[in-house]
Amino acid sequence: MERDDLDFTGKVVIVTGGNGGIGQGIVDVFSERNAHVVVADFAASLNSRGSLGTGELVDIRTDITDRKSIDAMVAQVIARFGRIDALINNAGRGEGMKRLPDVTQDTIDWILDLNINGTVNMTQAVVAEMRRAGSGSVVNITSAAALSGPAGKNDPLYAGAKGFLHAFTKALAADLGPAGIRVNSVAPGWIVPESNEATSQGSFWNVMPIMGKPDQANAAHEEALASGFGGAPTNQSDLPPLRKLGRPRDIGYACLYFASDAAAYSTGQVLAVGGGGYMPG
Ligand SMILES: NC(=O)c1ccc[n+]([C@@H]2O[C@H](COP(=O)([O-])OP(=O)(O)OC[C@H]3O[C@@H](n4cnc5c(N)ncnc54)[C@H](O)[C@@H]3O)[C@@H](O)[C@H]2O)c1
Repeated sequence: MERDDLDFTGKVVIVTGGNGGIGQGIVDVFSERNAHVVVADFAASLNSRGSLGTGELVDIRTDITDRKSIDAMVAQVIARFGRIDALINNAGRGEGMKRLPDVTQDTIDWILDLNINGTVNMTQAVVAEMRRAGSGSVVNITSAAALSGPAGKNDPLYAGAKGFLHAFTKALAADLGPAGIRVNSVAPGWIVPESNEATSQGSFWNVMPIMGKPDQANAAHEEALASGFGGAPTNQSDLPPLRKLGRPRDIGYACLYFASDAAAYSTGQVLAVGGGGYMPG
């Protein structure tokens, strides 16, 4: 039988912010392919979940803005599994409709701390282990907000922080390629979980009511499609060319590709997954 490049049996994948939303979709996709998946989230899931394959699903409460918390989680993973094959830097958030004149110093500090420092610290901690092993894959979840001005204009700080990750991805990929470590980014468009329950206590859907809830976004989308208008999800004026809402698993499959041996010759890349809402020139 030929080797299946998308099978993760025996491999260990860390997903930050994996307890809901996009993170949950990423966790499920790897779990189904038999990975040991470590969920590094600072909040609990709203639904009880187990492994979907033959690997373990381990929840290690982690705050990526706290380096001590990161180091403790990585030490636990190494003690338990002895390896880390992939890191998916998914935890991140903006403040929604917050234009630059309206942001406070507090907002500036936490957005940069979570989206930039959090990802940098996680990556530094895990790459040290990957270097020892001589292999590994890092996938940074960024945003369409960092690829297109119109997509980012409602939260320029968030867009800028995610843009940092694009440059970080490329520079690290160039540096770490010879060490056998690949680094890529996935930039989601508007992604809505299937239900309110598919979020975590720490999700923006629950701590930032400006966006409504997934059930509302799904209902608004169905209504708009039924009216023949072409669809108007809560924070967009129109649907992308593929004319449907993006789901967490859509991002999970892109992560699966980059983290797997199927992408053994791809590094330093950004893949936009947004229904064609952004197309590079
Ligand atoms: N949903 C979208 O439309 C969309 C679009 C573009 C990019 N993104 C990006 O995708 C990623 C996931 O987004 P989402 O929609 O699932 O968001 P979400 O808010 O629903 O989920 C984020 C998860 O990260 C966790 N988290 C937050 N801060 C943390 C911290 N300091 N340490 C550990 N965990 C923490 C939360 O508890 C939550 O479970 C984010 O980086 C986001 O910026 C989302």
